[in-house]
Amino acid sequence: MYEKIIILDFGSQYTQLISKRIRRLGYYTEILPYNTLLKNLQSPAIKGIILSGGPESVYAKHSPQIPSKIFRLNKPVLGICYGMQLMVKLLNGKVIRSKEREFGKTNLTILKRTKLLKGLPKHFPVWMSHSDKITKLPPGFINGARTSACKYTLIADDKRRFAGVQFHPEVTHTKFGLKIIENFIKEYCDIKREWVFENFIKTTTDGIREVVGKNQVIIAVSGGVDSTVAAILMHRAIGKKLIAVIVDNGLMRKNEIAECRFNLKKKLGLNLKVIDGSSVFLKKLKGVSDPEKKRKIIGKTFIKLFEQVAEKYKDVKFLCQGTLYPDVIESVSVKGPSATIKSHHNVGGLPKRMKLKLIEPLREFFKDEVRELGKKLKIPKELLNRHPFPGPGLAIRILGPVTDERLSILREADDIYITELKSRNIYNKIWQAFCVLLPVKTVGVMGDARTYENVIAIRAVNSSDGMTANWFNFKQTDLMEISSKIINNVKGVNRVVYDISNKPPSTIEWE
Ligand code: XMP
Repeated sequence: MYEKIIILDFGSQYTQLISKRIRRLGYYTEILPYNTLLKNLQSPAIKGIILSGGPESVYAKHSPQIPSKIFRLNKPVLGICYGMQLMVKLLNGKVIRSKEREFGKTNLTILKRTKLLKGLPKHFPVWMSHSDKITKLPPGFINGARTSACKYTLIADDKRRFAGVQFHPEVTHTKFGLKIIENFIKEYCDIKREWVFENFIKTTTDGIREVVGKNQVIIAVSGGVDSTVAAILMHRAIGKKLIAVIVDNGLMRKNEIAECRFNLKKKLGLNLKVIDGSSVFLKKLKGVSDPEKKRKIIGKTFIKLFEQVAEKYKDVKFLCQGTLYPDVIESVSVKGPSATIKSHHNVGGLPKRMKLKLIEPLREFFKDEVRELGKKLKIPKELLNRHPFPGPGLAIRILGPVTDERLSILREADDIYITELKSRNIYNKIWQAFCVLLPVKTVGVMGDARTYENVIAIRAVNSSDGMTANWFNFKQTDLMEISSKIINNVKGVNRVVYDISNKPPSTIEWE
């Protein structure tokens, strides 16, 4: 078990960022809900606790609270924003409600050097976002810094190893934020620097070998980043005892299956089985236009085919999945369950049905860490920097029924679009880009003849996690040339439109 810093989440939008910053520094962290039982915070492996920010006022009726006994666990505590105010309130200082809200970048001035301010200049910019104010410090604390509008901006009790900051050290607008977090860790928390990739690869592969023993493990791969990194990590640990299965659902992009086979089998050496299920999927999707029905059919058919393959291997006892840390936090988060907007295709129901044990080698990792890990595992860059691609594939990018003819129109258009983005060096500036085939025909003119053909919509968005997204601002010449190239080269298309909708209120995919 790694020594770790625990972050108690009070609902701040930046909580995951705190965790990422600490991990960047080489220390392991876990995010837990604010109402985690005290007995679960007592482990000697927990070397420090961070109380995150949150949207509430500490005096609001249902604001999240913690028992003051947390300060008697003899562990260092750093409170950020709401976390700091809660700390002050619980340690007998005073916080008052204020109607004015201080928001944005402002300049901090150091008043007294506490350990958290070690090595920092006297003035530097910090990012504030709060309305409540501290008016009296708890006994034992000193005031380390102020801004023009906020008297107590950084407070500390170096002896008891408690500190609080009114600003957000985890956001990049706070100039020495990372250094402040590092000071907290190095000066207050006696923790080993264990979260380094070299360690991780070795400890995880050792662990996997021990758990798996002589058995086999099966994994469904798609050519996407998460399943590829999970598979390669497993392969490092158990070699050919890992069976990687790719199900060709007939809904992949042009040459995708061939490329996956080449990359995963030839280049990376995986024991890869390609299952051709295209005719089964297309048959089941025949005449189906409803997006949710398409998703459900694809999900169910996938599970059925995958089960059939797995049954052939008698020694398979484990199913490996590329679950990431944000999915894990989501399930323990303080936030209520959010409405299902689209039923995502995943293999979540599989392990129970198949009576397999689950192995999730990436469940400690954020997406950017998975890419980093992929690099260390020598996975080619083109694979690691691929845009996300949804499980239901092109079926949810063909509005209306999915047919062979419509699939091949969309495949050609999408291939031209993506090839153009790569040759123009903009593919890596975009988070996700793809074409959508619309269920309408429009009139056009080619040569001297009238045409009545399909419309392709092109989509390109930037996002950090797919939860929100902004449409990408192309140069006009890029749009013009890409549009001409698609219309001139894809038979059956006479019009291209560009999707200028953000998420929310739209979603990234059209279905
Ligand atoms: P939406 O359309 O919900 O998409 O804004 C957000 C991100 O999720 C991807 N997506 C999926 N990924 N299975 C997946 O593995 C799915 O069923 C699925 N549906 C959407 C989408 O491509 C985008 O990156």
